[in-house]
Amino acid sequence: MRLILGISGASGVIMGYHMLKALKHAPDMEVHLVITEGAALNFELETEMKTEQLAALADVVHSNRNLAANISSGSFHTDGMIVIPASMKTVAGIASGYAENLLLRAVDVCLKESRRVVLVPREMPLNRIHLRNIKECADCGCTIVPPMLTFYNGSDSLEKQINHIVGKILMQFGIDFKDFAPWKGENIDDWKEMFSGRLDFGRHN
Ligand SMILES: Cc1cc2nc3c(=O)[nH]c(=O)nc-3n(C[C@H](O)[C@H](O)[C@H](O)COP(=O)(O)O)c2cc1C
Repeated sequence: MRLILGISGASGVIMGYHMLKALKHAPDMEVHLVITEGAALNFELETEMKTEQLAALADVVHSNRNLAANISSGSFHTDGMIVIPASMKTVAGIASGYAENLLLRAVDVCLKESRRVVLVPREMPLNRIHLRNIKECADCGCTIVPPMLTFYNGSDSLEKQINHIVGKILMQFGIDFKDFAPWKGENIDDWKEMFSGRLDFGRHN
């Protein structure tokens, strides 16, 4: 399998690092990495990491300025692309087809070749422009996986929360991730009995 991993300059670039680590352990995986200038800045500002440490985890690292890279062409086969995190600027570029850097061009190519694209848009709160652009991306075939908190599997650390997001994204490509904790299932047939008397929040006169 060959995947493109794009890391753009939203907060949470560390999620891109965790994704790279997970892909490193996936069997028969070739990872092409593109880091935007904004992402490189955020690695400096938000983490202790140097972008060289990320490069060491990828099979191929592309300059975001190199619009002549192989992943810039549909004739170079890939199995799709993940953008984690996706800044609102990058989401806007994807939504409008404004492929002015390699990350944006690679997404554009994946979409025109009907390849899977997963976006992890990160901003809070979202204004109407953000929401419109995210919807436009979804309408154009992207799968939107916002970095939401998980509560049902005891993910009580930042690393576990990120692993949950990474696992949910990899599911989209049929890849198992050992650190992903799915919902195990629960028998709630008798939930009404379990909570009898405790669900009465009505007014008591
Ligand atoms: C510390 C820091 C945090 C940022 N967080 C976000 C964010 O969460 N979401 C976002 O859309 N932009 C965020 N930005 C702004 C983007 O980095 C900026 O719009 C940049 O131009 C994005 O370019 P890129 O998508 O090519 O990486 C942040 C910038 C900095 C310096």
